[in-house]
Amino acid sequence: METGKQITGTLIVAVFTAALGSLQFGYSLGVINAPQKIIEKHYARSLGVWSERSDSSVNDTEDMSSSETGKHPSVVMYWSLSVAIFSIGGMVSSFLVGFVGDLKGRVKGMLMINVLAVAAGLLMGLCRMWKPHIMVISGRAVMGFYCGLTSGLVPMYIGEIAPKAYRGALGTIHQLATVIGILISQVIGLDFVLGNDEMWPLLLGLSGAPAVLQSLLLPLCPESPRYLYILLGQEQEARKSLHRLKGATDLTSDLEEMRREKQEADREARVSIRSLILSSVYRRQLFVALMMHLSQQFSGINAIFYYSTAIFSQAGVSQPVYATIGVGVINTVFTLVSVALVDKAGRRSLTLIGLGGMCCCAVAMTVGIRFQNDFSWMSYVSMSAIFLFVSFFEIGPGPIPWFIVAELFSQGPRPAAIALAGCCNWTSNFIIGMTFPYIQAWMDCYVFILFAVLLFGSTVFIYFRVPETKGKTFEEIAAMFQKKRKTPTGIAELQQLKTSSEA
Ligand code: GLC
Repeated sequence: METGKQITGTLIVAVFTAALGSLQFGYSLGVINAPQKIIEKHYARSLGVWSERSDSSVNDTEDMSSSETGKHPSVVMYWSLSVAIFSIGGMVSSFLVGFVGDLKGRVKGMLMINVLAVAAGLLMGLCRMWKPHIMVISGRAVMGFYCGLTSGLVPMYIGEIAPKAYRGALGTIHQLATVIGILISQVIGLDFVLGNDEMWPLLLGLSGAPAVLQSLLLPLCPESPRYLYILLGQEQEARKSLHRLKGATDLTSDLEEMRREKQEADREARVSIRSLILSSVYRRQLFVALMMHLSQQFSGINAIFYYSTAIFSQAGVSQPVYATIGVGVINTVFTLVSVALVDKAGRRSLTLIGLGGMCCCAVAMTVGIRFQNDFSWMSYVSMSAIFLFVSFFEIGPGPIPWFIVAELFSQGPRPAAIALAGCCNWTSNFIIGMTFPYIQAWMDCYVFILFAVLLFGSTVFIYFRVPETKGKTFEEIAAMFQKKRKTPTGIAELQQLKTSSEA
């Protein structure tokens, strides 16, 4: 068998273990959706804005949707904060991904941060012991902080241990595990499972469970050979790690590849976040990387994931929770489609098809919701549009931004670029999570027109500004962006970056 193509049991265990972090990220993204009304009721009680009249009418989820309690301004505010604080945690911690990963290695880094996930799970699981709204908001903040780290560390570790022949497919495992996490949270969020008056704290608390399993498995995973060799210069340790990951094969070509990477990395400056922002050499690349993440979040995808149950009710669907689960299934299926297509069709075309398709769906959704009272069949239009919206998202705009940043930048500026792009993703996620209920209240059935406009803008941007990176070397990609790199000013600026990074 060709050496680069060997998949060993250790590699499978390592990828599976790391992906438990992405599963947890997805679970935390999706879990807040279905039990909204129930949790709002508990917030209202603890805030003292729960009236006896509404209490007597509320026995289950159905009745609750007719209650006015959830509409109290302070309940709306605390609820929006519970949804959105998760992204603030992620926003802050995404800057620390490089630091945590380099501190003691990728494996120990993932192990250390599990403390956060377990603490967050306990805060939410035990929220009845004190003020539920404060406990849940704190738990969501800590969980967000954990997820900002895990959503960087997992792709980094998997990317570094994956054999060359499978790097693309294994790279999308992060998004696949994320969407499976979302689906699991939707299924166990059903009212007859854990999404009910009694069990909802457990539903939220379970967000920390994968961390326990991951902590048990991580000691079995080899450290990234690239971390050991390129960062620490420990050739023997790297060799041992490679041997465990690849089995009894000839490791010469892998070691040679890492040796070349190390030489390249030693030549290049390690660019800080500040110099990346200020340097004109990387400006075009950075702009593209950030725009890819902005277009992912401002597509409105998380408006669907955080609020789909409410959106489906507004669209006249009688069993909104099941429709939400349908979204989770479609989401998972189309991520699998993307795994199969991404190395054939290319990043640019899949992103363009995805964003363009989502734009049309956003228009269809608006038409469906606007005319649902005039024609009963219109609820099918909006429902199909939501399903298609999610499918188009997962074909390209969902998974691609997470790995394209690493392709756009070489070793030196890569960590800073990943941190900035991650922060941009989480910040826009926060803005959507926090403002969507208000925008929806303001724009009513026209809310998705706003996303249609943003999607159209992103499609045009990608069309004119984003080149195809599929099958190109880092050198070729850099050449496409950095025409300036070879000019005297560019050379001088790169030299200056190197000198300042060594100082
Ligand atoms: C991507 C996005 C995330 C979204 C998810 C949905 O991972 O970054 O915000 O919720 O896709 O599948």
